[in-house]
Amino acid sequence: MTSMRYAASALAFGALLVCGCAGDGTGLDEYGSPLAASRPPLAPTLSSLQANIFTPMCTACHTGEAAPLGLALDAGQAWRNLVSRSSSQMPALPRVNPGKPDSSYLVWKIEGHPAIQGGRMPLGLAPLSAEQIAAVRGWIQDGAAQN
Ligand code: HEC
Repeated sequence: MTSMRYAASALAFGALLVCGCAGDGTGLDEYGSPLAASRPPLAPTLSSLQANIFTPMCTACHTGEAAPLGLALDAGQAWRNLVSRSSSQMPALPRVNPGKPDSSYLVWKIEGHPAIQGGRMPLGLAPLSAEQIAAVRGWIQDGAAQN
């Protein structure tokens, strides 16, 4: 019994060590971005997707001239790099096919469609939530406006 109690408190202490190290990361999420509370609500518009998904979850890699496959997802650049632009990995499929989320390579990449080249996005990180994917799909379904 005693050893179990020790084991339990050792575990609790370990958890404290792990959780207690937020330090200067307070208010930031696992991507080093401001917590969701300070972002606009998730909605199927480009500005909401930019603030909630592209900037905080994608631009760690997809930024500027050296962005993978030329796909910079920075604010002000994401729309022209996505909408009606052929994907590099599967040129027959546009990255975003307005009105057609099921034939948009962006959707395939965030859903981890079995036919994609390379990895599911965001690469090496937790997948987007169902709500986030639904917002991306909704924006494309509605015509992928620059809104
Ligand atoms: C850790 C770096 C990293 C992050 C974060 C990341 N990507 Fe990528 N992305 C890559 C790399 C590298 C490639 C090319 C290799 C591959 O697909 O695995 C790529 C490829 C892509 C492609 C294919 C483009 C084409 O034309 O074929 C899309 C679409 C994409 N990423 C979208 C996203 C989105 C959306 C996010 C955020 C939700 C994201 N990525 C986050 C590194 C990243």
